[in-house]
Amino acid sequence: MMKNVVIIGTQWGDEGKGKVVDILAPHFDVVARYQGGHNAGHTVRIGERKFVLHLIPSGILHDHCCCIIGNGVVVEPKALNSEIEELRQMGVESEGRLFISNRAHLILPHHVELDRAREKRLGANSVGTTMRGIGPAYEQKAARTGVRAGDILYPDLLRARLAEAMADANFELVSLGAAPLEAEATADQFLQEAIRLRPFIRDIAEMLNSSIQAGKAVLLEGAQGTMLDVDHGTYPFVTSSNATAGGAATGLGLPPRSITGALGITKAYSTRVGGGPFPTELLDETGAYLQKRGNEYGASTGRSRRTGWFDAAVVRYSVMLNGLDAIALTKLDVLDEFSDIKICVGYQYQDELLTEMPYSAALLGECTPVYETMAGWKTKTAGITEFDELPPAAKAYVNRIEQLIGAPIAMISTGPERTETIIRKNSPVGNWMG
Ligand code: GDP
Ligand code: IMO
Ligand code: MG
Repeated sequence: MMKNVVIIGTQWGDEGKGKVVDILAPHFDVVARYQGGHNAGHTVRIGERKFVLHLIPSGILHDHCCCIIGNGVVVEPKALNSEIEELRQMGVESEGRLFISNRAHLILPHHVELDRAREKRLGANSVGTTMRGIGPAYEQKAARTGVRAGDILYPDLLRARLAEAMADANFELVSLGAAPLEAEATADQFLQEAIRLRPFIRDIAEMLNSSIQAGKAVLLEGAQGTMLDVDHGTYPFVTSSNATAGGAATGLGLPPRSITGALGITKAYSTRVGGGPFPTELLDETGAYLQKRGNEYGASTGRSRRTGWFDAAVVRYSVMLNGLDAIALTKLDVLDEFSDIKICVGYQYQDELLTEMPYSAALLGECTPVYETMAGWKTKTAGITEFDELPPAAKAYVNRIEQLIGAPIAMISTGPERTETIIRKNSPVGNWMG
Protein backbone atom coordinates (compact mmCIF):
# COMPACT_ATOMS: atom_id res chain seq x y z
CA MET A 1 0.00 0.00 0.00
CA MET A 2 1.45 3.35 -1.02
CA LYS A 3 1.46 6.15 1.57
CA ASN A 4 2.40 9.52 0.09
CA VAL A 5 0.73 12.44 1.78
CA VAL A 6 0.76 16.12 0.87
CA ILE A 7 0.58 18.80 3.57
CA ILE A 8 -0.97 22.08 2.51
CA GLY A 9 -1.58 25.44 4.13
CA THR A 10 -5.29 26.18 3.70
CA GLN A 11 -5.17 29.93 4.40
CA TRP A 12 -2.43 32.52 3.78
CA GLY A 13 0.55 30.57 5.14
CA ASP A 14 1.99 30.25 8.65
CA GLU A 15 -0.72 27.83 9.70
CA GLY A 16 1.79 25.61 11.55
CA LYS A 17 2.94 23.34 8.72
CA GLY A 18 6.42 22.96 10.27
CA LYS A 19 5.02 21.59 13.53
CA VAL A 20 2.69 19.14 11.78
CA VAL A 21 5.40 17.88 9.39
CA ASP A 22 7.62 17.31 12.42
CA ILE A 23 4.91 15.21 14.08
CA LEU A 24 4.23 13.10 11.00
CA ALA A 25 7.86 12.70 9.86
CA PRO A 26 8.62 9.69 12.13
CA HIS A 27 6.05 7.73 10.09
CA PHE A 28 7.56 8.60 6.69
CA ASP A 29 10.88 7.80 5.01
CA VAL A 30 11.19 10.87 2.81
CA VAL A 31 10.11 14.51 3.29
CA ALA A 32 10.06 16.63 0.12
CA ARG A 33 9.44 20.31 -0.62
CA TYR A 34 7.78 20.93 -4.00
CA GLN A 35 7.45 24.71 -4.44
CA GLY A 36 8.37 28.11 -3.03
CA GLY A 37 11.76 29.04 -1.73
CA HIS A 38 13.27 30.68 1.34
CA ASN A 39 10.22 32.95 1.56
CA ALA A 40 8.87 30.14 3.75
CA GLY A 41 9.54 30.00 7.47
CA HIS A 42 8.50 26.74 9.14
CA THR A 43 8.95 26.65 12.90
CA VAL A 44 9.57 23.50 14.90
CA ARG A 45 9.82 23.77 18.68
CA ILE A 46 11.47 20.90 20.51
CA GLY A 47 11.72 21.70 24.21
CA GLU A 48 13.93 24.76 24.61
CA ARG A 49 15.19 24.49 21.05
CA LYS A 50 13.55 26.34 18.18
CA PHE A 51 14.31 25.55 14.54
CA VAL A 52 13.08 27.75 11.70
CA LEU A 53 13.39 25.95 8.37
CA HIS A 54 13.20 28.00 5.17
CA LEU A 55 14.29 25.77 2.28
CA ILE A 56 15.20 22.51 3.94
CA PRO A 57 12.24 20.21 4.62
CA SER A 58 11.30 20.03 8.30
CA GLY A 59 11.95 16.25 8.15
CA ILE A 60 15.69 17.01 8.48
CA LEU A 61 15.21 17.03 12.27
CA HIS A 62 14.53 13.28 12.15
CA ASP A 63 17.72 11.30 11.49
CA HIS A 64 16.05 8.57 9.45
CA CYS A 65 14.40 10.99 6.98
CA CYS A 66 15.78 11.59 3.52
CA CYS A 67 14.97 15.21 2.53
CA ILE A 68 14.34 16.48 -0.95
CA ILE A 69 14.16 19.91 -2.54
CA GLY A 70 12.15 19.39 -5.73
CA ASN A 71 12.34 20.93 -9.20
CA GLY A 72 9.40 23.21 -8.33
CA VAL A 73 11.40 24.98 -5.60
CA VAL A 74 13.59 28.02 -6.30
CA VAL A 75 16.93 27.84 -4.50
CA GLU A 76 19.14 30.70 -3.37
CA PRO A 77 22.56 29.07 -2.85
CA LYS A 78 23.82 31.44 -0.15
CA ALA A 79 20.61 31.12 1.87
CA LEU A 80 20.69 27.34 1.58
CA ASN A 81 24.36 27.16 2.60
CA SER A 82 23.60 29.31 5.65
CA GLU A 83 20.69 27.09 6.60
CA ILE A 84 22.82 23.95 6.25
CA GLU A 85 25.49 25.60 8.41
CA GLU A 86 23.01 26.77 11.08
CA LEU A 87 21.58 23.27 11.33
CA ARG A 88 25.08 21.83 11.58
CA GLN A 89 25.79 24.13 14.50
CA MET A 90 22.67 22.80 16.19
CA GLY A 91 23.91 19.24 15.64
CA VAL A 92 21.90 18.38 12.51
CA GLU A 93 23.92 17.19 9.49
CA SER A 94 22.36 17.59 6.04
CA GLU A 95 25.05 16.06 3.84
CA GLY A 96 24.11 12.58 2.70
CA ARG A 97 20.44 13.17 3.64
CA LEU A 98 19.50 16.27 1.69
CA PHE A 99 19.13 16.19 -2.09
CA ILE A 100 18.34 19.02 -4.50
CA SER A 101 16.74 18.46 -7.87
CA ASN A 102 19.07 19.23 -10.78
CA ARG A 103 15.99 20.85 -12.37
CA ALA A 104 15.32 23.30 -9.51
CA HIS A 105 15.85 26.88 -10.66
CA LEU A 106 18.31 29.09 -8.84
CA ILE A 107 17.46 32.50 -7.43
CA LEU A 108 20.07 34.74 -9.07
CA PRO A 109 21.51 37.93 -7.57
CA HIS A 110 19.47 40.23 -9.83
CA HIS A 111 16.21 38.54 -8.79
CA VAL A 112 16.50 40.03 -5.34
CA GLU A 113 17.29 43.48 -6.75
CA LEU A 114 14.35 43.27 -9.16
CA ASP A 115 11.99 42.15 -6.39
CA ARG A 116 12.98 45.23 -4.35
CA ALA A 117 12.84 47.68 -7.25
CA ARG A 118 9.44 46.46 -8.47
CA GLU A 119 7.89 46.51 -5.03
CA LYS A 120 9.17 50.05 -4.58
CA ARG A 121 7.67 51.07 -7.88
CA LEU A 122 4.27 49.59 -6.94
CA GLY A 123 4.22 51.81 -3.86
CA ALA A 124 0.88 51.58 -2.03
CA ASN A 125 -0.18 48.69 -4.30
CA SER A 126 2.87 46.56 -3.52
CA VAL A 127 2.43 42.83 -2.91
CA GLY A 128 4.45 43.02 0.28
CA THR A 129 6.80 40.24 -0.85
CA THR A 130 9.49 38.78 1.34
CA MET A 131 12.06 40.48 -0.96
CA ARG A 132 13.79 37.15 -1.47
CA GLY A 133 13.68 37.31 -5.29
CA ILE A 134 11.01 34.59 -5.50
CA GLY A 135 8.77 36.20 -8.15
CA PRO A 136 11.59 37.23 -10.54
CA ALA A 137 13.15 33.73 -10.26
CA TYR A 138 9.91 32.03 -11.33
CA GLU A 139 9.51 34.62 -14.10
CA GLN A 140 12.95 33.78 -15.44
CA LYS A 141 12.07 30.07 -15.31
CA ALA A 142 8.90 30.66 -17.32
CA ALA A 143 10.84 32.86 -19.75
CA ARG A 144 13.13 29.87 -20.41
CA THR A 145 16.26 31.83 -19.58
CA GLY A 146 16.81 30.53 -16.05
CA VAL A 147 19.77 28.80 -14.44
CA ARG A 148 19.17 25.44 -12.78
CA ALA A 149 20.86 23.59 -9.95
CA GLY A 150 22.21 21.02 -12.42
CA ASP A 151 24.10 23.83 -14.18
CA ILE A 152 26.27 24.18 -11.06
CA LEU A 153 28.07 21.07 -12.29
CA TYR A 154 29.06 23.06 -15.43
CA PRO A 155 30.45 26.35 -14.08
CA ASP A 156 31.40 27.80 -17.47
CA LEU A 157 27.91 27.33 -18.80
CA LEU A 158 26.44 28.71 -15.58
CA ARG A 159 28.66 31.80 -15.74
CA ALA A 160 27.66 32.49 -19.35
CA ARG A 161 23.92 32.16 -18.66
CA LEU A 162 24.20 34.26 -15.53
CA ALA A 163 26.06 37.00 -17.42
CA GLU A 164 23.33 37.11 -20.08
CA ALA A 165 20.49 37.15 -17.57
CA MET A 166 22.22 39.80 -15.47
CA ALA A 167 22.83 42.04 -18.48
CA ASP A 168 19.11 41.98 -19.30
CA ALA A 169 18.18 42.60 -15.67
CA ASN A 170 20.56 45.55 -15.44
CA PHE A 171 18.56 47.31 -18.17
CA GLU A 172 15.40 46.86 -16.18
CA LEU A 173 17.02 47.86 -12.90
CA VAL A 174 18.25 51.12 -14.41
CA SER A 175 14.81 51.81 -15.90
CA LEU A 176 13.32 51.32 -12.42
CA GLY A 177 15.79 53.80 -10.97
CA ALA A 178 17.84 51.13 -9.17
CA ALA A 179 21.59 50.60 -9.35
CA PRO A 180 22.78 47.96 -11.86
CA LEU A 181 24.79 45.00 -10.57
CA GLU A 182 28.53 44.80 -11.10
CA ALA A 183 28.51 41.69 -13.29
CA GLU A 184 31.95 40.11 -12.73
CA ALA A 185 32.20 40.45 -8.96
CA THR A 186 28.56 39.43 -8.43
CA ALA A 187 29.01 36.33 -10.59
CA ASP A 188 32.21 35.35 -8.71
CA GLN A 189 30.47 35.56 -5.35
CA PHE A 190 27.45 33.68 -6.63
CA LEU A 191 29.54 30.85 -8.09
CA GLN A 192 31.49 30.47 -4.87
CA GLU A 193 28.27 29.80 -2.99
CA ALA A 194 26.65 27.71 -5.72
CA ILE A 195 29.61 25.34 -6.03
CA ARG A 196 29.26 24.36 -2.39
CA LEU A 197 25.91 22.74 -3.27
CA ARG A 198 27.46 20.22 -5.70
CA PRO A 199 27.31 17.19 -3.38
CA PHE A 200 23.56 17.62 -2.96
CA ILE A 201 22.44 17.69 -6.60
CA ARG A 202 20.54 14.67 -7.97
CA ASP A 203 17.87 13.59 -10.43
CA ILE A 204 15.04 13.76 -7.93
CA ALA A 205 12.20 12.37 -10.02
CA GLU A 206 14.16 9.14 -10.57
CA MET A 207 15.11 8.96 -6.92
CA LEU A 208 11.62 9.58 -5.56
CA ASN A 209 9.79 7.32 -7.95
CA SER A 210 12.15 4.42 -7.30
CA SER A 211 11.82 5.00 -3.52
CA ILE A 212 8.04 4.78 -3.89
CA GLN A 213 8.38 1.62 -5.97
CA ALA A 214 10.48 0.17 -3.17
CA GLY A 215 7.63 0.83 -0.72
CA LYS A 216 8.92 4.00 0.96
CA ALA A 217 6.45 6.59 2.27
CA VAL A 218 6.82 10.21 1.22
CA LEU A 219 5.57 13.32 2.99
CA LEU A 220 5.19 16.30 0.65
CA GLU A 221 5.73 19.53 2.58
CA GLY A 222 3.90 22.48 1.06
CA ALA A 223 5.02 26.04 1.68
CA GLN A 224 2.84 29.19 1.77
CA GLY A 225 -0.89 28.49 1.53
CA THR A 226 -3.82 27.98 -0.83
CA MET A 227 -4.77 31.68 -0.86
CA LEU A 228 -1.20 32.54 -1.91
CA ASP A 229 -1.26 30.09 -4.85
CA VAL A 230 -0.45 31.88 -8.10
CA ASP A 231 -3.52 30.42 -9.87
CA HIS A 232 -6.10 29.97 -7.13
CA GLY A 233 -5.16 32.59 -4.55
CA THR A 234 -5.96 36.28 -4.22
CA TYR A 235 -4.10 37.22 -7.42
CA PRO A 236 -2.06 39.42 -7.78
CA PHE A 237 -1.44 39.34 -4.02
CA VAL A 238 0.03 35.86 -4.16
CA THR A 239 3.38 34.13 -4.34
CA SER A 240 4.62 32.91 -7.73
CA SER A 241 4.20 29.14 -7.36
CA ASN A 242 1.46 26.52 -6.99
CA ALA A 243 1.18 25.89 -3.28
CA THR A 244 -1.94 23.76 -3.85
CA ALA A 245 -1.91 19.95 -4.12
CA GLY A 246 -1.34 19.83 -7.89
CA GLY A 247 1.98 21.61 -7.35
CA ALA A 248 3.26 18.54 -5.52
CA ALA A 249 3.08 16.43 -8.68
CA THR A 250 4.71 18.91 -11.04
CA GLY A 251 7.13 20.18 -8.41
CA LEU A 252 8.67 16.76 -7.82
CA GLY A 253 8.00 14.76 -10.98
CA LEU A 254 5.50 12.52 -9.20
CA PRO A 255 2.58 10.98 -11.06
CA PRO A 256 -0.60 12.46 -9.51
CA ARG A 257 -1.91 8.98 -8.73
CA SER A 258 1.05 8.32 -6.46
CA ILE A 259 -0.26 10.94 -4.01
CA THR A 260 -2.54 8.99 -1.70
CA GLY A 261 -3.62 11.60 0.84
CA ALA A 262 -3.87 15.32 1.53
CA LEU A 263 -3.82 17.02 4.92
CA GLY A 264 -4.76 20.68 5.23
CA ILE A 265 -3.20 22.79 7.96
CA THR A 266 -5.65 25.37 9.28
CA LYS A 267 -5.21 27.99 11.96
CA ALA A 268 -8.17 28.35 14.36
CA TYR A 269 -8.30 32.03 13.27
CA SER A 270 -6.82 33.82 10.25
CA THR A 271 -3.56 35.63 9.54
CA ARG A 272 -1.92 37.15 6.50
CA VAL A 273 1.47 38.81 5.91
CA GLY A 274 1.87 41.40 3.16
CA GLY A 275 -0.76 43.14 1.04
CA GLY A 276 -4.05 41.94 -0.42
CA PRO A 277 -7.66 41.41 0.61
CA PHE A 278 -8.41 39.82 3.97
CA PRO A 279 -12.17 39.95 4.62
CA THR A 280 -12.13 38.95 8.30
CA GLU A 281 -9.21 41.20 9.25
CA LEU A 282 -9.55 42.83 12.68
CA LEU A 283 -7.96 46.24 12.81
CA ASP A 284 -9.08 46.78 16.39
CA GLU A 285 -7.84 45.69 19.80
CA THR A 286 -9.13 42.13 19.23
CA GLY A 287 -6.79 41.90 16.22
CA ALA A 288 -3.92 43.28 18.29
CA TYR A 289 -4.70 40.75 21.02
CA LEU A 290 -4.63 37.83 18.54
CA GLN A 291 -1.31 39.07 17.18
CA LYS A 292 0.26 39.23 20.61
CA ARG A 293 -1.24 36.08 22.09
CA GLY A 294 -0.60 34.10 18.88
CA ASN A 295 2.91 35.55 18.58
CA GLU A 296 2.03 36.47 15.00
CA TYR A 297 5.32 37.77 13.67
CA GLY A 298 6.81 36.41 10.44
CA ALA A 299 9.26 33.53 10.86
CA SER A 300 11.19 34.72 7.78
CA THR A 301 10.95 38.49 7.79
CA GLY A 302 9.86 39.32 11.35
CA ARG A 303 6.98 41.42 9.97
CA SER A 304 3.77 41.61 12.02
CA ARG A 305 1.10 39.34 10.65
CA ARG A 306 -2.36 40.78 10.06
CA THR A 307 -4.97 38.90 12.10
CA GLY A 308 -8.69 38.16 11.94
CA TRP A 309 -11.50 35.70 12.69
CA PHE A 310 -11.71 32.24 11.16
CA ASP A 311 -12.93 32.34 7.57
CA ALA A 312 -14.83 29.15 6.71
CA ALA A 313 -15.34 30.30 3.10
CA VAL A 314 -11.57 30.30 2.59
CA VAL A 315 -11.02 26.88 4.12
CA ARG A 316 -14.03 25.34 2.34
CA TYR A 317 -12.45 26.56 -0.92
CA SER A 318 -9.14 24.96 0.11
CA VAL A 319 -10.83 21.66 0.93
CA MET A 320 -12.30 21.61 -2.58
CA LEU A 321 -9.14 22.68 -4.46
CA ASN A 322 -6.81 20.32 -2.66
CA GLY A 323 -9.13 17.36 -2.08
CA LEU A 324 -8.27 17.40 1.60
CA ASP A 325 -8.89 14.15 3.45
CA ALA A 326 -8.53 15.83 6.80
CA ILE A 327 -7.54 19.02 8.60
CA ALA A 328 -5.05 19.72 11.36
CA LEU A 329 -6.51 22.66 13.30
CA THR A 330 -3.72 24.63 14.96
CA LYS A 331 -3.41 27.31 17.64
CA LEU A 332 -6.77 26.56 19.27
CA ASP A 333 -5.18 27.63 22.58
CA VAL A 334 -4.78 31.19 21.27
CA LEU A 335 -8.59 31.57 21.53
CA ASP A 336 -8.74 30.41 25.18
CA GLU A 337 -9.66 33.77 26.71
CA PHE A 338 -12.45 34.99 24.43
CA SER A 339 -16.08 35.21 25.63
CA ASP A 340 -17.37 35.16 22.05
CA ILE A 341 -15.71 33.89 18.90
CA LYS A 342 -16.80 34.73 15.37
CA ILE A 343 -16.71 32.50 12.30
CA CYS A 344 -17.16 33.90 8.81
CA VAL A 345 -19.61 31.66 6.95
CA GLY A 346 -19.82 33.56 3.64
CA TYR A 347 -19.54 37.02 2.10
CA GLN A 348 -21.96 39.81 1.38
CA TYR A 349 -21.21 41.53 -1.93
CA GLN A 350 -23.60 44.39 -2.61
CA ASP A 351 -27.04 42.68 -2.55
CA GLU A 352 -25.67 39.23 -3.05
CA LEU A 353 -24.68 36.55 -0.58
CA LEU A 354 -21.64 34.84 -2.10
CA THR A 355 -21.16 31.15 -1.62
CA GLU A 356 -18.17 30.84 -3.94
CA MET A 357 -14.75 32.46 -3.64
CA PRO A 358 -14.73 35.55 -5.87
CA TYR A 359 -12.15 35.35 -8.63
CA SER A 360 -10.58 38.75 -8.17
CA ALA A 361 -8.75 40.31 -5.28
CA ALA A 362 -10.60 43.57 -5.94
CA LEU A 363 -13.97 41.83 -5.60
CA LEU A 364 -12.94 40.00 -2.46
CA GLY A 365 -11.74 43.33 -1.08
CA GLU A 366 -15.28 44.69 -1.42
CA CYS A 367 -16.89 41.75 0.35
CA THR A 368 -18.03 41.97 3.95
CA PRO A 369 -17.95 38.83 6.03
CA VAL A 370 -21.19 37.27 7.25
CA TYR A 371 -20.52 36.09 10.80
CA GLU A 372 -21.88 33.49 13.10
CA THR A 373 -21.02 33.97 16.76
CA MET A 374 -20.14 31.13 19.08
CA ALA A 375 -19.56 31.10 22.81
CA GLY A 376 -15.94 31.05 23.90
CA TRP A 377 -14.69 28.58 26.52
CA LYS A 378 -12.65 30.85 28.77
CA THR A 379 -10.69 27.86 30.02
CA LYS A 380 -7.15 26.74 29.29
CA THR A 381 -6.89 24.30 26.37
CA ALA A 382 -3.14 24.85 26.02
CA GLY A 383 -1.35 21.51 26.21
CA ILE A 384 -4.48 19.30 26.05
CA THR A 385 -3.79 16.00 24.24
CA GLU A 386 -7.23 14.29 24.29
CA PHE A 387 -10.30 15.54 22.43
CA ASP A 388 -12.58 14.50 25.29
CA GLU A 389 -10.69 16.81 27.66
CA LEU A 390 -11.54 19.93 25.65
CA PRO A 391 -14.19 22.18 27.19
CA PRO A 392 -17.63 21.73 25.57
CA ALA A 393 -17.54 25.14 23.88
CA ALA A 394 -14.17 24.33 22.26
CA LYS A 395 -15.56 21.01 21.01
CA ALA A 396 -18.57 22.87 19.62
CA TYR A 397 -16.23 25.31 17.80
CA VAL A 398 -14.27 22.42 16.25
CA ASN A 399 -17.47 20.60 15.27
CA ARG A 400 -18.99 23.70 13.69
CA ILE A 401 -15.84 24.33 11.64
CA GLU A 402 -15.93 20.71 10.42
CA GLN A 403 -19.53 21.17 9.28
CA LEU A 404 -18.81 24.44 7.52
CA ILE A 405 -15.69 23.34 5.65
CA GLY A 406 -16.77 19.79 4.82
CA ALA A 407 -13.68 17.95 6.04
CA PRO A 408 -12.90 16.12 9.27
CA ILE A 409 -10.58 17.72 11.81
CA ALA A 410 -8.24 14.85 12.54
CA MET A 411 -5.64 16.69 14.57
CA ILE A 412 -5.81 19.67 16.92
CA SER A 413 -2.75 21.59 18.01
CA THR A 414 -2.93 23.17 21.47
CA GLY A 415 0.57 24.64 21.71
CA PRO A 416 3.82 24.99 19.75
CA GLU A 417 5.43 21.85 21.23
CA ARG A 418 5.33 18.43 19.59
CA THR A 419 3.54 17.02 22.63
CA GLU A 420 0.81 19.67 22.68
CA THR A 421 -1.32 17.86 20.13
CA ILE A 422 -4.59 15.93 19.94
CA ILE A 423 -4.62 13.15 17.35
CA ARG A 424 -8.04 11.70 16.74
CA LYS A 425 -7.96 7.94 16.40
CA ASN A 426 -9.92 6.41 13.52
CA SER A 427 -9.03 9.42 11.38
CA PRO A 428 -6.82 9.62 8.28
CA VAL A 429 -4.03 11.10 10.42
CA GLY A 430 -4.38 8.26 12.94
CA ASN A 431 -4.04 5.81 10.03
CA TRP A 432 -1.02 7.59 8.53
CA MET A 433 0.66 7.42 11.93
CA GLY A 434 -0.41 3.84 12.56
P1 GDP B 1 4.34 27.45 9.00
O1 GDP B 1 4.97 28.44 8.09
O2 GDP B 1 3.00 27.01 8.50
O3 GDP B 1 5.23 26.30 9.32
O4 GDP B 1 4.06 28.20 10.37
P2 GDP B 1 5.07 29.21 11.15
O5 GDP B 1 6.14 28.41 11.78
O6 GDP B 1 5.47 30.32 10.27
O7 GDP B 1 4.07 29.83 12.22
C1 GDP B 1 3.41 29.07 13.15
C2 GDP B 1 3.80 29.56 14.55
O8 GDP B 1 2.86 29.08 15.51
C3 GDP B 1 5.15 29.04 15.03
O9 GDP B 1 5.74 30.02 15.85
C4 GDP B 1 4.80 27.81 15.85
O10 GDP B 1 5.77 27.50 16.84
C5 GDP B 1 3.50 28.24 16.48
N1 GDP B 1 2.53 27.18 16.73
C6 GDP B 1 2.24 26.08 15.97
N2 GDP B 1 1.19 25.41 16.48
C7 GDP B 1 0.79 26.10 17.58
C8 GDP B 1 -0.28 25.94 18.52
O11 GDP B 1 -1.09 25.02 18.44
N3 GDP B 1 -0.38 26.87 19.52
C9 GDP B 1 0.47 27.92 19.62
N4 GDP B 1 0.28 28.78 20.61
N5 GDP B 1 1.49 28.11 18.75
C10 GDP B 1 1.63 27.23 17.73
P1 IMO C 1 5.17 29.83 4.95
O1 IMO C 1 5.63 28.63 4.15
C1 IMO C 1 3.13 33.69 4.83
C2 IMO C 1 3.62 36.06 1.18
C3 IMO C 1 4.36 37.37 1.29
C4 IMO C 1 3.65 38.17 0.22
C5 IMO C 1 3.38 37.14 -0.87
C6 IMO C 1 4.40 37.14 -2.00
O2 IMO C 1 6.01 30.14 6.12
O3 IMO C 1 3.72 29.70 5.27
P2 IMO C 1 6.92 36.33 -2.15
O4 IMO C 1 8.14 36.75 -1.40
O5 IMO C 1 6.59 34.87 -2.01
O6 IMO C 1 6.94 36.78 -3.58
O7 IMO C 1 5.71 37.16 -1.47
O8 IMO C 1 3.41 35.88 -0.21
N1 IMO C 1 4.35 34.88 1.68
C7 IMO C 1 4.07 34.25 2.83
N2 IMO C 1 3.19 34.56 3.79
N3 IMO C 1 3.89 32.58 4.94
C8 IMO C 1 4.76 32.24 3.95
O9 IMO C 1 5.41 31.07 3.94
C9 IMO C 1 4.91 33.12 2.87
N4 IMO C 1 5.69 33.13 1.75
C10 IMO C 1 5.33 34.20 1.04
O10 IMO C 1 4.23 37.94 2.56
O11 IMO C 1 2.40 38.62 0.70
MG1 MG D 1 5.75 30.38 8.15
